[in-house]
Amino acid sequence: MGPQTFAVLCALISLIFAAQAPQFAPPGPGPASPSSNYVGVNNCTLPNTPKIVGKVFDRFTQIWLENTDFEVANTTPTFQNLATQGILLSSYYAVTHPSEPNYVASLGGDFFGMGDDNLYNIPANISTAIDLLEAKDISWASYQENLPTDGSVLFSFTQPNYLDTSAPPYTYYVRKHNPHAIFNSVVNVESRRSKIRNFNDFAADLNASAIPQWNFVTPNLVNDGHDTDIDFAAAWLEYWLVPMLANSNFNDNRTLIVLTFDENENQRVNNRVFTLLLGGAIPQNLRGTVDDTYYSHYSLLSTVQANWGLGSLGRQDTNKTMSNVFSFVADVIGYQNQVVTGSAIPITSASGKNSGPLNSKLYVPFASPNLNAVGAGGGPVFVSPTLNTSVTPDTLPPPVNLAALGQQVPSAGYANGTGPNGSVPPPVTVVDSC
Ligand SMILES: *[C@@H]1O[C@H](CO)[C@@H](O)[C@H](O)[C@H]1NC(C)=O
Ligand SMILES: *[C@@H]1O[C@H](CO)[C@@H](O)[C@H](O)[C@H]1NC(C)=O
Ligand SMILES: *[C@@H]1O[C@H](CO)[C@@H](O)[C@H](O)[C@H]1NC(C)=O
Ligand SMILES: *[C@@H]1O[C@H](CO)[C@@H](O)[C@H](O)[C@H]1NC(C)=O
Ligand SMILES: *[C@@H]1O[C@H](CO)[C@@H](O)[C@H](O)[C@H]1NC(C)=O
Ligand SMILES: *[C@@H]1O[C@H](CO)[C@@H](O)[C@H](O)[C@H]1NC(C)=O
Ligand SMILES: *[C@@H]1O[C@H](CO)[C@@H](O)[C@H](O)[C@H]1NC(C)=O
Ligand SMILES: *[C@@H]1O[C@H](CO)[C@@H](O)[C@H](O)[C@H]1NC(C)=O
Repeated sequence: MGPQTFAVLCALISLIFAAQAPQFAPPGPGPASPSSNYVGVNNCTLPNTPKIVGKVFDRFTQIWLENTDFEVANTTPTFQNLATQGILLSSYYAVTHPSEPNYVASLGGDFFGMGDDNLYNIPANISTAIDLLEAKDISWASYQENLPTDGSVLFSFTQPNYLDTSAPPYTYYVRKHNPHAIFNSVVNVESRRSKIRNFNDFAADLNASAIPQWNFVTPNLVNDGHDTDIDFAAAWLEYWLVPMLANSNFNDNRTLIVLTFDENENQRVNNRVFTLLLGGAIPQNLRGTVDDTYYSHYSLLSTVQANWGLGSLGRQDTNKTMSNVFSFVADVIGYQNQVVTGSAIPITSASGKNSGPLNSKLYVPFASPNLNAVGAGGGPVFVSPTLNTSVTPDTLPPPVNLAALGQQVPSAGYANGTGPNGSVPPPVTVVDSC
């Protein structure tokens, strides 16, 4: 065919694909307003508790997008524009594949061998960043965009499709992107569970100047790029993050915002993700700069620990290779990061290769953390009152292939809401109060 026919054909093909690709549509009037597209209603705002002053920032908000290679985000205009206002981390890596273990690692300091996106309930003796924050009275919340009700532990939630009202209902919310819901040490405590909130609560908390000091923000499955692409996620950032950067109830001169991705897309290469530090706490002279220090999702834990002088979890959050503290914070505090470059950068693109209590093919029980570890905050390792400290990593038996025996790991549940081994768990008390 001639070049003209070819060009017409190409144009037609791209039109067809453009028609198929979902187009971004705002889920509501704006991030500061409630929306009926968020099923859960807001009944109350979080209490405005006294601020605990950090060494470099007083508020820390992490925003997680999905499944994108560094280069893809780094060549997308919205991300490039945002990078002029912050510090681009050019050597920041996710810790494994697929999604769920990365979210779990960012809260619990380990992914416990998990190599899938299944339903897990991590036992209450396993601690998270929440234990460390609450020990110092630092307020926190998780804002999950289309979470149906506060504290919901549902595996997923399907609701009317707001992008295309003539289309069938759509699953916008999934638990695998909501790490707090996976840890019983959070979910079993009513006051903690009610801090797993949705975006109608966000609007109300924002309006009440009650956005906590530590926040986890998960956009829904279309807005985070999971079911869509980088341009869709960029459109959501223009809708949600750009106005929030200018809202002093969200971002003031003591706020650090981390925009990151759970994992990269191309699993044949190492797991580098685009991560940007934003917010008023970024010194003027560092805005628009690139920091090539090696970081991982464990740096989200260590940086918070360093800032508020917290204890640690004694897991990978204290692994000096994996948990460098964001340099602009480390430099103020005088914390010494490790130099990790070239072939010393850990390969974290594997999935399901580590033994652990959430790996049915290489199962070992949960072990106590390293109680002698010292993290970037310098405080003690948090020990849950129900932790059996004599189960140390070196006392663990060799890994067992439970899957080959037709068994699941004890922490597994079923997506339909039944418990392990067909048991029926206690009914879920849905809280929608503060
Ligand atoms: C914001 O707070 C004011 C009172 O301070 C209230 O009148 C208003 O309805 C609130 N707006 C939203 C969107 O919650
Ligand atoms: C930061 O914000 C506070 C409160 O608005 C203000 O008092 C202070 O001067 C600001 N500091 C800087 C360095 O801009
Ligand atoms: C620390 O991280 C490195 C790189 O991933 C790993 O090789 C090492 O085993 C980890 N150390 C511990 C004690 O987990
Ligand atoms: C703690 O673990 C040790 C070693 O596995 C075991 O012998 C002991 O019974 C456990 N204690 C409790 C209270 O479960
Ligand atoms: C943690 O709790 C689980 C479930 O109760 C138990 O099986 C396990 O032995 C405990 N592990 C440790 C290290 O305390
Ligand atoms: C729930 O799912 C599990 C695993 O797929 C299945 O074995 C079980 O029969 C299901 N139970 C109900 C009540 O649907
Ligand atoms: C599930 O069944 C297996 C095999 O019968 C058993 O070893 C395990 O203890 C059971 N787990 C629970 C939580 O009941
Ligand atoms: C919050 O609102 C929901 C939906 O209207 C309602 O079902 C629930 O009972 C309310 N909770 C409280 C504590 O008022």
